[in-house]
Amino acid sequence: MRSLLKVSLGALAVAVRVSAQEIFEPVDFNVTEALIDNGVNITAIPELAGLVARSSLKGCSIACNSLKLIFGSTKVSSAAPTTYWSKQQLDVDPSCTFMPTAALEVSTVVLLSRLTKCPFAVKSGGHAAFPGASSIEGGITIDMVNMNERKLSADKKSVAIGPGNRWIDVYDYLTPYNLAVVGGRASTVGVGGLTLGGGISHHTNKYGLACDNVASYELVTASGIVLTVSATKFPDLYWALRGGGNNFGVVTTFHYETLPQGLMFSSKRQYDAAYAPTLFDAFGNAVIGAVQDPKLAHFVAIAHVRGLKLVSTEYEYFTPVDAANPPAILQEYLAVPWIQDSTRNCTLAETTPGLSEGMPAGFRTTMWSQSFKLNTDLMKRIASHFFTIAPSIPGVSSLSFQAFSTPALHAMQKKGGNALGLYPDNGPFFHILFYVPWTDASEDESILTVVKDFLGAVVRMAGELGALNDYMYMPYSSPYQPVLSRYGADNLAKLNAVSKKYDPAGVFQTLQPGYFKLDGVAPYGTTI
Ligand SMILES: Cc1cc2nc3c(=O)[nH]c(=O)nc-3n(C[C@H](O)[C@H](O)[C@H](O)COP(=O)(O)OP(=O)(O)OC[C@H]3O[C@@H](n4cnc5c(N)ncnc54)[C@H](O)[C@@H]3O)c2cc1C
Ligand SMILES: *[C@@H]1O[C@H](CO)[C@@H](O)[C@H](O)[C@H]1NC(C)=O
Ligand SMILES: *[C@@H]1O[C@H](CO)[C@@H](O)[C@H](O)[C@H]1NC(C)=O
Ligand SMILES: *[C@@H]1O[C@H](CO)[C@@H](O)[C@H](O)[C@H]1NC(C)=O
Repeated sequence: MRSLLKVSLGALAVAVRVSAQEIFEPVDFNVTEALIDNGVNITAIPELAGLVARSSLKGCSIACNSLKLIFGSTKVSSAAPTTYWSKQQLDVDPSCTFMPTAALEVSTVVLLSRLTKCPFAVKSGGHAAFPGASSIEGGITIDMVNMNERKLSADKKSVAIGPGNRWIDVYDYLTPYNLAVVGGRASTVGVGGLTLGGGISHHTNKYGLACDNVASYELVTASGIVLTVSATKFPDLYWALRGGGNNFGVVTTFHYETLPQGLMFSSKRQYDAAYAPTLFDAFGNAVIGAVQDPKLAHFVAIAHVRGLKLVSTEYEYFTPVDAANPPAILQEYLAVPWIQDSTRNCTLAETTPGLSEGMPAGFRTTMWSQSFKLNTDLMKRIASHFFTIAPSIPGVSSLSFQAFSTPALHAMQKKGGNALGLYPDNGPFFHILFYVPWTDASEDESILTVVKDFLGAVVRMAGELGALNDYMYMPYSSPYQPVLSRYGADNLAKLNAVSKKYDPAGVFQTLQPGYFKLDGVAPYGTTI
């Protein structure tokens, strides 16, 4: 079917469209002509040629058939991807799955979606926790799995990473160079969703989030243009991509800044639940101490596992540590008596399987997020309330406590800042991730209700202590949470203005309906 594509000509035409305009989509934009520019021979696909005149045909079957005719059946499957983390996403049945290998192919699928009005979803690592986030019933799932480039720049200051990569692929590639990037902490998570929503890393206290350390993005816009976006090229879009999720285009390459990373210290411990308050005090001091020493990453998690109360922690330090003689910032934590310990010096790559194993794929899942001003009394009250309500969830439930320290908040202001609405002046913050895995669909409603009520209660507690913060972390948020409104009214207005400029037809709002949209409302509404 090669004759349907004039690839080199098409690539040239796209390049011309990019350089010739500051207006990203003229009012008389003609999708058919843009497809022809991409090298698609419209007249050779009778159904598509017909669509130019008629619009009542079944859009998605035409779109999927056209993709097959243009790209062949190795790149188009009628089955859904089998590599989602959450069971609810696995259960979604698209019309077809398209697996592009180049930005131009991504451009063509976006234009085909527009022409046929067939909606789509974009999937990187597939670790979003709710259906529709990176899957779409009856539409086109664009699975980026084969866009898995990994390439260091000649000066080794940046690395090009395709969204088909998981974090383990990235770290395995960089380890021999003694380099790393600010990226995810779990081996199997994808680079795409994590980076576009923020990206909490072991390196965040010093460098900020993953999104704060992207030198440039290669992005396919709503009109099928391939743009390189950086602090100097399209800076408004660069700002919006730092936390704006899937609302601005399909990222086909992330160019991350690299940082030096040899062996590091990694410690995972379990404690008697009675030590939770002691650990929260240590947490608070480590958050404050990050100003002096940003090399420590840490979190405290509490869990209820079939009647058992568990408390665990994870500590990472940029360099190897002698646990008997640790740097000051680790001393309070390491002095707490533990019941189980795994402490070692190892590579960043070696730290990552642990978090994936602790949150295995294949379960029904829900994740919820909320942030607060750092307040250890509030942390203790939240933990105590968790252990009160957790028994009403039959299997496993967990709550982890993480921080946005003052140096992390400063790092988030680099290069024009990100879109999250988190600033050093009102920090530091802690935030919670409530995560529940379960198997029986008949429990969906009761579990979601327990979690939602819990979040309501802790928000009220925080209000009483004057410690509530609006922000919710997108990659940990549930579809019942209004994530983008919580970036602040100014930031949401700015995000909408950027969208109007680069996507005036609102393609990424309507034809890609999943995940957190720029209307700022919860994707599933706020009732359960
Ligand atoms: C086990 C586990 C560990 C985790 N650890 C961390 C952690 O350490 N730090 C952290 O910050 N978060 C963590 N998370 C949360 C994680 O960041 C989110 O689940 C995130 O959505 C995963 O990204 P993904 O690419 O795998 O997901 P996907 O489901 O593929 O994508 C999520 C969203 O991003 C969009 N998207 C993905 N790629 C692109 C692209 N190239 N262009 C445009 N849109 C795109 C999708 O359309 C979708 O809406 C963890 C989650 C799990 C399940
Ligand atoms: C778009 O372009 C095609 C092909 O050149 C043409 O047939 C069609 O009429 C155009 N559509 C509009 C709305 O101008
Ligand atoms: C486009 O397809 C038509 C119909 O199959 C064919 O006649 C024509 O030669 C093709 N054009 C190009 C440039 O390949
Ligand atoms: C980790 O490295 C430090 C510093 O080199 C060393 O003192 C310590 O013994 C090592 N720890 C382990 C568990 O090997």
